[in-house]
Amino acid sequence: MNHLIVVSNRLPFALDSTGEDLWTVTPAVGGLVSAIEPVLRERGGTWIGWPGIAGEIPEEPFAEARRNAGYKIVPVALSETERDEFYYGYSNEVIWPLFHDLQNFCNFEPAYWQAYKEVNNRYADAIVRCAHPDDFIWVHDYHLMYVAETLRERGVSRDLSRLTFFLHIPFPPYDIFSKLPQQQRLLHALLQFDLLGFQTRRDVRNFMQCVRRVMLDAKVVPRRGLQLIRFEKREIRVGHFPIGIDFNSFENGARSDAVEQRAQRLRVTFPACQSILGSDRLDYSKGIPERLRAFRTALELHSELRGRAVLIQIVVPSRVEIPRYHEFKNRIDRLVGDINGRFSTSTWLPVQYHFRSLDRDDLLAHYRGCDIAFVTPLKDGMNLVAKEYCASRIEEDGVLILSQFAGAAEQLKPDALLVNPYDIEQMADAILKAFRMSEAERKARMKRMRRVVRDENVFSWVDSFLKAGSNVGSRPQRVSKRRRATFAR
Ligand code: UDP
Ligand code: G6P
Repeated sequence: MNHLIVVSNRLPFALDSTGEDLWTVTPAVGGLVSAIEPVLRERGGTWIGWPGIAGEIPEEPFAEARRNAGYKIVPVALSETERDEFYYGYSNEVIWPLFHDLQNFCNFEPAYWQAYKEVNNRYADAIVRCAHPDDFIWVHDYHLMYVAETLRERGVSRDLSRLTFFLHIPFPPYDIFSKLPQQQRLLHALLQFDLLGFQTRRDVRNFMQCVRRVMLDAKVVPRRGLQLIRFEKREIRVGHFPIGIDFNSFENGARSDAVEQRAQRLRVTFPACQSILGSDRLDYSKGIPERLRAFRTALELHSELRGRAVLIQIVVPSRVEIPRYHEFKNRIDRLVGDINGRFSTSTWLPVQYHFRSLDRDDLLAHYRGCDIAFVTPLKDGMNLVAKEYCASRIEEDGVLILSQFAGAAEQLKPDALLVNPYDIEQMADAILKAFRMSEAERKARMKRMRRVVRDENVFSWVDSFLKAGSNVGSRPQRVSKRRRATFAR
């Protein structure tokens, strides 16, 4: 088995300064870390990434944080300007909104692109420092699409057996992608990898369409299974690999006494009510205001829900330094206030709203204790919350209302209640349908969804990606002594 090197912007933990020489270390939030962490824990390997603070990385707290990981962790430091222009800027004010089809939210500031290339270059340096010629190098997500380009510019990639990439977020259709000032340079950079993985068929289709329209020198060879592109005398494979979760860990965790007790406490807090769970990072792609409006409409139209349904909405703080995220939080606060102001009684508060992250047992208790999960992103690469909810339903009950624009819909669509998150009335109807759904129907649907989530879990996802990746790229050429010296683990 080749040594696995995972490269992503996030490490599994984030450092934060709480005063002079005082540091906190918290698990990083988000789907990428949730999915990759169990994989590296099981297989071992190296994880290259950023520990979440600008400036110098404090030695002691960092050493402490990485000590118990069970795999090697290599940090990449970002200055304040780099954090602002590469992470907040190009990654999260250009690529993130554009790739979620929200081009009006983009800030196409030209300086961001330069910072993006420079930081990708820094990641390439880290790879060169720790990779050996036979290692499997797996770069993740939209922050690092330029890494292979910089490795090839330096000629380093000739000594590495394969360079692979997986995009966790959606890839947009051509009409949206073509708004990007750097469209050609970015596609050129992506075509420097040997294998490109996307979440869904939709993303592969969009990517291939963009390559056809923008990269006129690339030859797309129609095929079944993995797609093939010939470009600059190389062959690049492209495929969809829907990411999964560590099913057993959620199922076993949900069975524990601690989680059962907390779930029970949650149920007795809302007697005679069905609880509906929304749990998301603070992000405008997650459709939180639309969900709140749908709940409000459902309460307006269907009196049987009043006093008998509660929406528990957890919003995990994220990227709050970007003004749009900050404004977005204010919008959620106002909507929650409006609904509670209009409908609450002395014994019933319709929306229970928490703006904080949950520890693992608390998260599992919410999955276990809530009758309905309401997952309505405007667009999402996959959405792991939907899968985690299913894995945690150990009684094989519960209803999943799911946006048709989440990657997870491709796998769960026959049994989840699919909704268009822009259609408030349809979502209100889905709430009523879920609320009224019989026990037998809930069980039949959940049983099938759990089977999919169990079978297509994160370990089978890794296996299929590594298998696809081991058949691509050129074997490393004989590496000269001088060049070998550039790789040292
Ligand atoms: N999550 C978390 N902390 C919390 C609540 C949730 O880390 O307090 C995790 C959750 O378990 C899930 C991830 O955040 O694994 C969210 O992933 P998803 O794919 O749904 O969306 P993303 O945030 O990656 O866009
Ligand atoms: C999404 C992205 C990840 C990112 C995560 C959390 O899942 O695909 O790459 O790590 O959101 O966002 P953050 O900006 O905190 O890393």
